[in-house]
This record gives sequence, structure tokens and C-alpha cells, in this order.
Amino acid sequence: MTDAAGRVGVIGAGTMGAAISALFANASYDVILVDIEKDALKRARIRHEGECLRELEEAGLKKRDEIISKIKYTTEFSELGDCFFVVEAIVERLQSKLELLERLEKIIGDRCIIATNTSSFTPSELSAKLKNPERLVLFHFSNPPILREIVEVGGENVGEEFLQKTVEVAKSIGKEPVILRKDSRGHIFNRFLCSALSALGWDMGKVAPPQVDAAMKNLGSPVGLFELLDYIGMDVLLMVQDSLTEAHGPRFALPPGARWLFEKMIEWGKLGKKSGEGFYKWVEGKAEIPRADPVDILHIVAAAVNEAFRELEEGLTDRETVNIAYKLATASPVGIFDVAEMLGYRTLIDVLEKKFEETGAEVFKPCEMLKKMAEVE
Ligand code: NAI
Repeated sequence: MTDAAGRVGVIGAGTMGAAISALFANASYDVILVDIEKDALKRARIRHEGECLRELEEAGLKKRDEIISKIKYTTEFSELGDCFFVVEAIVERLQSKLELLERLEKIIGDRCIIATNTSSFTPSELSAKLKNPERLVLFHFSNPPILREIVEVGGENVGEEFLQKTVEVAKSIGKEPVILRKDSRGHIFNRFLCSALSALGWDMGKVAPPQVDAAMKNLGSPVGLFELLDYIGMDVLLMVQDSLTEAHGPRFALPPGARWLFEKMIEWGKLGKKSGEGFYKWVEGKAEIPRADPVDILHIVAAAVNEAFRELEEGLTDRETVNIAYKLATASPVGIFDVAEMLGYRTLIDVLEKKFEETGAEVFKPCEMLKKMAEVE
């Protein structure tokens, strides 16, 4: 008897694709992992033999002592032909994704679901050139993907049957799907994460990364913001901030100093966890973070809360869903609106207005809904 749960494909064997393929293999799917770079496949295999197994254990998801026998590592896209579900996790460039998806549609069967882990593009943008756009579903993980429970699932043009099947698949690998029916670059979570990172940009060079991360941990977050930047990768982060700036405006633009630093880090090969060093050195999948005294990060939290209110203002989704997305994506016991209530709306507005006066940065401009909340507080 075989223990196969079906055949799935994962395209892109980098930070996210390697971990996503591990989740599928662990849940007994037969996995075809495709990358254009042989070295990326080799690195993924090494992670599958150690780090991913440890994370599966830590997440309470581990079902097998090894996973590599469930994964075929290949550069041949034709191997994806028999898959019922294919996740794309390639570079965050619209043109690269569009070309890949058009090519993929010619290889896979008519009922195969195409799931995208894009951080910033919308499902409708990505399905624009497909013959059957209804089968392209958002399937967005948070980093580190094995440890965070969330997968944002959805898309405005997705067929109901494809959506429900994707929800089932997400649950079968141990994830908690959060459904988002409207399209917006950055979906739910990345919009407020990237607002926080844009706000953090104004502190770069003025505070030491361990100080900010100590403050985050004091607030109950399992990882600090600089540690998270290392998890994400400087190259990916720049592409995502640019994509959100293009769609939502200058509040997502990084200040020039921060942008310069990220570009330099990319040039120096300090990409973060995936290159072994970013803001921190990484050893066996863990950041080496020196002890430090926490600094004030209220303006960063306020920027994230402000963006969460903008999502409500735009009718992207409801308050409860935003709170759940925040809890699952950050492993926090409380939602972002609970954080806002604890801090007080007036305090948040005061902090934002002060920072806006200092920097002139749009990310610190309070939105109308937050202002109204402060009026009735
Ligand atoms: P990465 O840079 O670590 O890996 C990307 C991989 O895709 C590389 O191995 C590259 O060789 C491969 N690739 C590039 N073009 C390809 C193509 N045409 N066909 C096959 N393979 C190709 O990037 P990462 O961080 O894994 O990101 C992948 C996707 O996941 C992006 O869309 C990103 O926005 C998204 N994402 C990233 C998160 C993060 O924290 N890094 C979190 C959630 C989503």
C-alpha cells in the first residue's frame, strides 16, 4: 500500500519553496520540487534533512522521520504534468511570474490548481494571461512558513470549487487558512508588516537591531523586526516594498538611508538567513542576537495599526479576520486591534502625528478611521 496523498508541485526551491515542499512531503504528498538553479535544489535538500525536520517537530506537525524520499528535486518543468496542485514560489517579479504561469498552464491538466505564494501581487494580476483564471488561488504563507500557522487563501476571480479545494489542501498540511476574497497587493498581513518596516526604515543607523528586537520580544513577539528582515531576505524585501509602493503609494517607500543600506547589503551578499548573514549571523537556522536594552518602538506599532485600519476603511475584509491573520502570522496571543485598544487610539495618533512632523513620511499619516476611533475613545 502506498502512503501517497496525491502529487503536488512546488516551483522555486528558495526560502519559501523549500519549506512549503517540506510541509507537503511531511503530510505524505508526493512532491515535485522544481527550480531553474541546481544549487537551489541542493540547498533545499540539505534543509529538508535537518532544519525543516526540526521546525516540523517544533510546530507539532512532524509525521515522518525523513521527507526527502517523498520529494523529487528537478529542473524539468514537464515533471509537473500529473500534479493536482502546484504552488509557485519563485522570485517576486511580475514578469517572471506571468511567464512561468503561462508556461505552466500548457503542462498541467485542466483541473490542476495553481497556487501562488506571492507576497505582493494580486491573484487577478497573476491570472491575467491564463486561459482559466479561476484556478489561480492565493496561497500565501508567513515566514518562517513551517512555524507560522497562517496561509492567506483567496482571490477575487477564483472559482468557488478551486477555493474550497485549496482550503482543504492548506488544512491537510497543518495550516490555518484565512480567506481573503478581495484583491489587494500585500493581502492582509504584508500590508501592515510592510508599513511597520517602512516606519522602521526611519530608525536605521540610529538604533542597534538587537535593541529593536528586544522591544518586540517584550511585546510578546517570538521574533524581532530585524530578525524577521533576515528571515525574509533583503532582496525579497526591496521587491515587495517597491511593489506595494507602486500600488498603494509613498507610504510604503523606504527612506533613502534604509534603501541605501538594503542595496549595500545585497551587494555584500548579506541577504539574511539564506546567505548565512544579514543583520545577524545565522548558525543552524537560528540568528545569533546579542543581548540589548529595548528602545521605544511605539511609532512602528502605530504605523502597523494605522495600515490595519486602512484595510477596514477600504473594505478589504472585516476586523475579526484582520485580527486572526495577525495572530496566526505573528504567533501572538492578541490581534492587532487588541494591541491598538491596549495602547489607546489617542496615544497612537499622537505618536504618528509627532513622527509625521519630524519626517514628513506618509507612513506616519493617521488614516480617517483611526482618527474617528480616537474621537470616540
Ligand atoms: P528566494 O529568492 O529565496 O527563492 C526563489 C527561488 O525561485 C530561487 O531558488 C530561484 O532560483 C527560483 N526561481 C526564480 N525564477 C524561477 C523560475 N522561473 N522557475 C523556477 N524557479 C525560479 O525567494 P523566496 O523568499 O522563497 O520567495 C519566493 C516567493 O515567496 C516570492 O513570491 C515571495 O514574495 C514569496 N514570499 C516570500 C516570503 C519571505 O519571507 N521571503 C514570505 C511569503 C511569501
